[in-house]
Amino acid sequence: MARVVIFSGAGISAESGISTFRDSGGLWDEYDVSIICNYDSMQKNEALTIEFYDKRRADLEDKEPNYAHDVIADLKEKYPDDIAVITQNVDNLFEKAGLKHEDVIHLHGFMTELRCQNRECEEIFEIGYKSQYDAYNGSCPTCGFTLRPNIVFFGEAAPKYEELSRHIQDCELFVVIGTSGNIVGVNTIAQYVDRSVLNNYEPSAAIEDALFSKVLYKKATDAVEEIAGEVEVFLD
Ligand code: APR
Repeated sequence: MARVVIFSGAGISAESGISTFRDSGGLWDEYDVSIICNYDSMQKNEALTIEFYDKRRADLEDKEPNYAHDVIADLKEKYPDDIAVITQNVDNLFEKAGLKHEDVIHLHGFMTELRCQNRECEEIFEIGYKSQYDAYNGSCPTCGFTLRPNIVFFGEAAPKYEELSRHIQDCELFVVIGTSGNIVGVNTIAQYVDRSVLNNYEPSAAIEDALFSKVLYKKATDAVEEIAGEVEVFLD
């Protein structure tokens, strides 16, 4: 397990032009999360749900990683066993910055993948930036059941949270970049781990910053060199 966990949220991708969720003008201002991102969305609002994710997938095609993704990717390449890159983001910007998909733990799913809804199958298909129907006509090529975006919706289990917990057990330095802390309880983790760094653009009501050893309220691209320095001093 890793000694350093770099945990990110939508804020790290904001400077690449991807909307955050809860900042003013964020995605959850524009869309009703209970309609397109809820455990029952594929049953009750299938067309709207698929349309929402098709649009976001297509939007991702021309998005490029920013300096923060690049620096974190370089760190992970330099210390592959000591760093876990764990993100709530479903975009592929760490991968575009050079990391292998298996070296990034995407807690909430991955935008360019579809998953078969058949519990006996659950096969995952990488579709790039295509719409769901352009990729497979909406049906699983293996079993014929309906496909869905490979995204964790509200009210659904998030199997990768177990990996987060396992990494936190051994973690000595916990780095948080660009999350409001409303979904994953970073306060509790910061209390558990010896040393912690928080970087957000601005304070969040859900994060108690006094629990962190270092707090950087600035853009991720402005904070990331200091963060990398901290990680390198710690691991060298
Ligand atoms: N640099 C650093 N932080 C930034 C930047 C930036 N350039 N821009 C915004 N932020 C910070 C904001 O200050 C805010 O604290 O990013 C955070 C974004 O918070 P949210 O929009 O709530 O995103 P996130 O915490 O990742 O959401 C968690 O909620 O809706 C679900 O599944 C979705 O994974 C998502 C989860």
